[in-house]
Amino acid sequence: MRIMLLGAPGAGKGTQAQFIMEKYGIPQISTGDMLRAAVKAGTPLGLEAKKVMDAGQLVSDDLIIGLVKERVAQDDCDKGFLLDGFPRTIPQADAMAESGIALDHVIEIDVPDEDIVARMGGRRVHPGSGRVYHVVFNPSKVEGQDDVTGEALAIRPDDEETTVRKRLAIYHEQTKPLVEYYTQVAANSHVTYDKFDGSQSVAQVSEQIVTALS
Ligand code: AP5
Ligand code: ZN
Repeated sequence: MRIMLLGAPGAGKGTQAQFIMEKYGIPQISTGDMLRAAVKAGTPLGLEAKKVMDAGQLVSDDLIIGLVKERVAQDDCDKGFLLDGFPRTIPQADAMAESGIALDHVIEIDVPDEDIVARMGGRRVHPGSGRVYHVVFNPSKVEGQDDVTGEALAIRPDDEETTVRKRLAIYHEQTKPLVEYYTQVAANSHVTYDKFDGSQSVAQVSEQIVTALS
């Protein structure tokens, strides 16, 4: 099962990815998590990516495409994968298709911009795993601590409101055209395209995604 999650920053891709990967036993490939791991490790890629990410802009297509190709070639992707945050430009989608990386399902999660801005202030993440929480809508069992490791949760540097608004503008300009792109792909192939109202509760969205995938 090869799935792609498409949606604005804060739409709930990472939240639903956690659930889908556990349910279907496929690895989550989050380009955002991969970049944040590189930033934390201080690799040359991380140093290059940090400034761009903190400013809410997109890292170069070439760099991202290289990362994903390498990741998809690993053994744990034999039975499928869940793409979270990639592709997010038309050139990335084209490069993916040209590299023979195929999809079975595209899942769009749609949330109005103003709901997203309100949500992002309450997001907390576990830097080690990428697990995502929200102080009100999806709280951890113990405040400020990851449910699995007990380690401290953090606020992402790009969740400041002006940066969130910038990321939303870039989403509308560079990523939203993928809605039309994959609607066309679905009309001409076995790929399915389903759109979900991501302003419902986390559980309602998960339930509807499972129904669509089964
Ligand atoms: P990335 O990490 O991919 O960020 P993003 O796409 O901006 O998305 P987010 O992770 O912010 O949101 P999400 O949809 O995962 O929402 P979440 O589940 O956390 O990318 C970061 C940066 O890396 C980019 O800006 C760019 O610089 C770079 N990058 C990454 N990929 C790239 C690429 N392919 N090309 C170029 N550059 C790239 O949920 C958000 C909050 O809402 C959480 O607190 C959550 O608990 C809560 N929540 C979730 N669902 C619900 C719900 N239904 N109701 C209420 N609250 C909810
Ligand atoms: Zn995410």
